[in-house]
Amino acid sequence: MSDLIRALETLEETALGSLDGASDVDSLERWRLLVLGRRGSLAETLKGLGTLTADQRPKAGQVANRVKASLEASFAVRLETIQKEVRRLELGAERLDVTLPASPRPRGSLHPVTKIRREIEGAFARLGFTSVEGPEVEWDQYNFTMLNIPPDHPARDIQDSFYIDGGSGTGGEMLLRTQTSPVQIRTMLAHKPPIRIIAPGRTYRNEATDASHEAMFTQVEGLCVDRNVTMADLRGTLTAVTRVLFGPDREIRFRCGYFPFVEPGAEVDMTCHVCNGRGCRVCKRTGWIELGGAGMVHPKVLANVGIDPSVYSGWAFGCGLERFAMLRYGIDDIRLFYDNDLRFLRQFS
Ligand code: PHE
Repeated sequence: MSDLIRALETLEETALGSLDGASDVDSLERWRLLVLGRRGSLAETLKGLGTLTADQRPKAGQVANRVKASLEASFAVRLETIQKEVRRLELGAERLDVTLPASPRPRGSLHPVTKIRREIEGAFARLGFTSVEGPEVEWDQYNFTMLNIPPDHPARDIQDSFYIDGGSGTGGEMLLRTQTSPVQIRTMLAHKPPIRIIAPGRTYRNEATDASHEAMFTQVEGLCVDRNVTMADLRGTLTAVTRVLFGPDREIRFRCGYFPFVEPGAEVDMTCHVCNGRGCRVCKRTGWIELGGAGMVHPKVLANVGIDPSVYSGWAFGCGLERFAMLRYGIDDIRLFYDNDLRFLRQFS
């Protein structure tokens, strides 16, 4: 019996000695199998218990249990030490410098026409105008007829308008709107005066494209209807907005112009923002830059939407946003806006 106890104690001593040599998780596991495993040296030694007599067994059993507990405890301590060390090394190797700048993410930017549109909306909002939208696929009725554009007007020419195949109904034929002016009709049909709106959006004309013409372009419409609205209000409003967009020194002028839905009608110019009216390349030496069309809403148009022209009057204007963007950013070809060339678009970020 003392042989067995001695064997257990020797086993404990050598096993504890070799435990210190296990320096990583693998060699530690090998140690566990060799010593504590089902066929390990402890199990092997404990087979000797069977040869002892009944009164020898308790004592030997006690020693066996103590040795087993001691080996298991030492194993656990060693395992934890090694795991901590492994973790420490991992953390050291994977060290992150959280103060490093983040890798740059490409960021989109607003399209130049969107920027101008928002500026115009902002300038008009301060004067109490709401921005509304209308459909790009429009009834012939709203795009032409109710705007007092007679059936034989050249604007309806198949050359100028994109008609929708098979698109006809209560509003006549369907087409891609050629101007934002149909939003005037839609607004006046839906609301009683006083009305103060602008309507930005895309418009389409079946045109040969060149540096100043695109088949798709953007307009912004303005409409103000109330009692006692005059052309002076139109002039004051356009002057105020022009100054927000192109600088405080801008003056505007009206030239006679014809649009079937206004009377009187005008072409609107502003003093050139590059030369301040003295004459330069941008204004073609005239000192003036064309902004768009405007005028007093034609009494027939008011009557068409059920607004009494003897009680109410109104003004309207319409202009091209690409043109504004070209003037503001010095762009000389309208086609650049819709080429989707990132080298162009990135210049506006
Ligand atoms: N709709 C006209 C155009 O596209 C512009 C305009 C709008 C003129 C409102 C007068 C009043 O040319």
